[in-house]
Amino acid sequence: MNTIKIFDTTLRDGEQSPGASMTMEQKYEIANQLARLGVDVIEAGFPISSPHQFDACKYIAERVKGPVIAALARSVPADIQAAGESIKPAERKRIHTFIATSPIHMEYKLKSTPEQVIERAIAGVKLARNYTDDVEFSPEDGTRSELPFLCRILEAVIDAGATTLNIPDTVGYSEPHEFGAFIKGIMNGVPNIDKAIVSVHCHNDLGLALANTIEGIKNGARQAEVTVNGIGERAGNAALEELVMALSVRNDVLPFTTNIDAKQIYNTSRLLANIISMPVSRNKPIVGENAFSHESGIHQDGMLKNRETYEIMTPQSVGREMSQIVLGRHSGLHGVKNRLTELGLSLGDDELKRAYETFLKVADKKKEVFDEDLITIANGVLGIPTASFTLDYFNIISGNMSVPTATVRIKTDEEMFEEAATGDGPVDAIFKAIDRITGLTTILKRYDVRAVTSGKQAMGDSSVSLEINGDIYKGKGSSTDILEASAKAYVNAINRYKILSRNKETKNE
Ligand code: KIV
Ligand code: ZN
Repeated sequence: MNTIKIFDTTLRDGEQSPGASMTMEQKYEIANQLARLGVDVIEAGFPISSPHQFDACKYIAERVKGPVIAALARSVPADIQAAGESIKPAERKRIHTFIATSPIHMEYKLKSTPEQVIERAIAGVKLARNYTDDVEFSPEDGTRSELPFLCRILEAVIDAGATTLNIPDTVGYSEPHEFGAFIKGIMNGVPNIDKAIVSVHCHNDLGLALANTIEGIKNGARQAEVTVNGIGERAGNAALEELVMALSVRNDVLPFTTNIDAKQIYNTSRLLANIISMPVSRNKPIVGENAFSHESGIHQDGMLKNRETYEIMTPQSVGREMSQIVLGRHSGLHGVKNRLTELGLSLGDDELKRAYETFLKVADKKKEVFDEDLITIANGVLGIPTASFTLDYFNIISGNMSVPTATVRIKTDEEMFEEAATGDGPVDAIFKAIDRITGLTTILKRYDVRAVTSGKQAMGDSSVSLEINGDIYKGKGSSTDILEASAKAYVNAINRYKILSRNKETKNE
């Protein structure tokens, strides 16, 4: 009774987010990952809305094993038939049918009376039962509906065969106490409620989706509709990863479990973000870049003494690597000293003091001081020269009838190097030309490019991860030209390799 079913609607409500459209293959890849993650239900799409939606639901229903495969349908016969047909091949299938029940939706959108809405809801559920015994009903705009009317319609659809009743806060208007009381009102006001599972589906327009979902659960809901990374209509839906970890970390006050394998959370989040090219914000709970990073001196000091001073869960518990101590202008001497020691650089008290002074100057100019910056600072204090590469010039010949060719010139303080190479595309040609200059054997593990400002002169950010001699080196570059940003990111990763590997050698000597 205390297991909460996770109904994932990333492929349906999530895909309705502007810019989140996916191809059939991409949806299939996500659905497989959701199965690995352990969701109970995958809402694969809204089949009547387009042939692509129909085909994608069918494709997933044919191939993805484990979770129940659901398809959405309005309380309209053609919708329900399309939903039923599309998920026919699934081992376990659900039709999710909905109709709006709030006065504003019934009057302006449906132009129907409450009695007509009840009739359509009953007919929709009965028709859906011809395709499957697993039928979910949602009163759209549920939280702005009148509770007595809502209870009437819910009672009627249970009698008609609905097995799950989903209460959507469609426009994200509810406040947590109110939503909890609303769910309680339904639990107490629908006489045959014990024949169905109550579900909640909360939108995040006021940033309350997770809080509302939790209140719904506390008041009797046993299914939660969520999306990976919280994507969805407008401000999105409650985020799967946040709900699962809230129930896990605060199990003392929220005694509920899910069937989710939390170690799959980070992979799932990254897969989705990459596929839809929608990176999560750095401070996004659980999956954001900063979620397990610590910059301030006080926090770093606490973390170094006992991780639990500033972390309520481990990054490993959600499938991430270890926590990060990020060095920046808020970092203290303790954090800097600790990182230098980890890098194999032991400085005397006076050298450390000078290194820290330089560190603070660098940190004032740069947002983050990376390991290679720290090594350069330490080398400066110790009087050891560090030669790094700078991109001086590049030229590309590319077109739909020619082999992409790049000429790249790179300089150090003392020397200039130039090489040319062909590649599968202009970026590949640039990377190959740089490899010729450095003579290194590299494996490109990740390459991302994204616009960070808008308009024709948009700044592009590129990031690369290179495997060199078995280790991963990351690099970043920015420019209004994405090829230049990519070249800079690649050179930045090579510089990191040069500095870090040289430091490793000296450390091992
Ligand atoms: O937000 C909503 O009301 C919906 C329904 C279709 C459940 O997405
Ligand atoms: Zn929704």
